[in-house]
Amino acid sequence: MSAAKGPRPYNFSAGPAAMPEAVLERAAAEMLDWQGSGMGVMEMSHRGKEFGAILARAEADLRTLLAIPQHFHVLFMQGGGLGENAIVPLNLSRGKTVDFVVTGSWSQKSAKEAQRYCTAHVAASNADNGHTQLPDPAGWQLSDGASYVHLCSNETIHGVEFQQLPDLAALGSSAPLVIDFSSHVASRSVDWRRVGLAFGGAQKNIGPAGLTIVVVRDDLLGHALEICPSAFNYRTVADNQSMYNTPPTWGIYMAGLTFQWLLEQTEGELTGVAAMEARNVAKAKLLYDFIDGSAFYSNKVATACRSRMNVPFFLADDGRNEAFLAGAREAGLLQLKGHKSVGGMRASIYNAMPLAGVQALVGYMREFERLHA
Ligand SMILES: Cc1ncc(COP(=O)(O)O)c(C=O)c1O
Repeated sequence: MSAAKGPRPYNFSAGPAAMPEAVLERAAAEMLDWQGSGMGVMEMSHRGKEFGAILARAEADLRTLLAIPQHFHVLFMQGGGLGENAIVPLNLSRGKTVDFVVTGSWSQKSAKEAQRYCTAHVAASNADNGHTQLPDPAGWQLSDGASYVHLCSNETIHGVEFQQLPDLAALGSSAPLVIDFSSHVASRSVDWRRVGLAFGGAQKNIGPAGLTIVVVRDDLLGHALEICPSAFNYRTVADNQSMYNTPPTWGIYMAGLTFQWLLEQTEGELTGVAAMEARNVAKAKLLYDFIDGSAFYSNKVATACRSRMNVPFFLADDGRNEAFLAGAREAGLLQLKGHKSVGGMRASIYNAMPLAGVQALVGYMREFERLHA
């Protein structure tokens, strides 16, 4: 049974999301027999030499891609972003106060979950402007002696992104910064001097759901609360090279293929994440410029903090939403419906979305406006 081969539709899902076609093709080719081993990756022991090589390569490539310094551990875990909302305070809070910068649904959820294990203090929030602007760091009410400061560096639902991470030391805090980078990991570089821990579910920009990536500074290990499950204790996971329990082997393999693909990408002189960042800037600019130039579509997020990855937008007349989505599907533009808490549309334009996909979307939007304005 094989489907007729033609161009695949462009998939704007917020996650699980489109993956690079070359990665999917390679996984398909290796499905039954990984590199002459006689086994597919899903069928291998995680302790065998074959999977050991896959894991080691994935970690090394991620370190190269994101320029992760040696004093950070890379952990391949399970539980997703919401799992980490509990796992981070279990490991880092010491049961004390943690500062949260609430900028949308995901950081709000993080603060709520942490409250079970520590005192979650909201140091800043943009709820009063409907999560459309980032609170100025100069006004954050950071606590003395906080165990860490948490923020979501790209709010997938509200489409708000930190273009620069805060320098907590300059704000008078000695706490480490924890970032949830689930929905923009590998889309831009990370300033590790400003980060103590970063976590992200893989299912947006990296691979299939089921894998969570944690990058954690060495000195933050070893402070877990007594009640922290062993499989979620960062020290234990690090000491066992992410093999304390069976890791999500398929997810790690697919992530590894994506990392190899990312390392091969070039844009002029740029390679890897720098190349992706240049492409992502161009893609986002094309879409936002079109929306801003139209009276038919709108985006409510302040220009300086608009997400390059997740672009929520609205039609002037909500009554046309269903027709917009149906026409989009017909034009090969999938999964554009906005999150139910925000409404309207959302185009997620992660690394795997080529510029041609955004051009096709803008072309469709222009034509829909011509017909319905
Ligand atoms: C920024 C962010 N954090 C956390 C999550 C939750 O991730 P998971 O569903 O893997 O627990 C998501 C999922 O969409 C997200 O976008």
